[in-house]
Amino acid sequence: MGSLNVSRPETYFLTNEGRRMDKWLHYFDIYERHFSSYRGAKVNIIEFGVSHGGSLRMWRDYFGQQARITGVDIDSRCASLAEDGIDVVIGDQENRAFLNDLAAKVGEIDIVIDDGGHTMAQQIATFEELWPRIRDGGIFLVEDLHTSYWPQYGGGYKRPGTFVEYAKNLVDQQNAWHSRESGQFTIDDYTRSIYGMHVYDSVIVFDKGTINKPINLAIGKPSF
Ligand SMILES: C[S@@+](CC[C@H](N)C(=O)[O-])C[C@H]1O[C@@H](n2cnc3c(N)ncnc32)[C@H](O)[C@@H]1O
Repeated sequence: MGSLNVSRPETYFLTNEGRRMDKWLHYFDIYERHFSSYRGAKVNIIEFGVSHGGSLRMWRDYFGQQARITGVDIDSRCASLAEDGIDVVIGDQENRAFLNDLAAKVGEIDIVIDDGGHTMAQQIATFEELWPRIRDGGIFLVEDLHTSYWPQYGGGYKRPGTFVEYAKNLVDQQNAWHSRESGQFTIDDYTRSIYGMHVYDSVIVFDKGTINKPINLAIGKPSF
């Protein structure tokens, strides 16, 4: 049962002699911070970006045998990297119809890791189509957000349409309960479902949860 034989995915990464993987070193603290409570659990995980298949094996090792791991890549050669406990689906993460078919196939999702093509359109389509498919308590992690600043990916400093600018708007939506401009700034599904956004260098982690109208109370005796 279970192959929870490493304490951190970083250990697996740094000692990997198997299929190649490609991660920035500081991501491993972020993974540990947000993923550790899911280890050993029956979780449904999708990683966009299979490449040589190394990270899928790392997730299998880290989360354990009960986890269902699905890798998605546009490169049809990646289909050959499926193995026991790891499914690989071939498709374009910018294609919303494909994403909806994928969601129907995999069912309710616990964790999405977007390490795919890293263009703005890909990241936004993947978030918009799969966020509703994440269960309450689940996580959506987008990595390599430095592409929001790289012109070859559609990025640029404060450039409209980047994923970082898109995420800044989601900060507004999280706070829409407090809007005084009801005509243009209103509560939406993101207001009601983004429990938290954790912003790191090149990574944003979204926590999903049901959010009700915030309640403010003042309890106790006044001091003045
Ligand atoms: C950074 S690599 C993935 C690395 C892998 N997760 C790892 O840690 O080793 C990015 C992958 O995204 C795939 N990709 C690029 N554009 C894509 C798209 N539109 N849809 C799905 N996958 C895409 C590429 O084929 C490539 O294999």
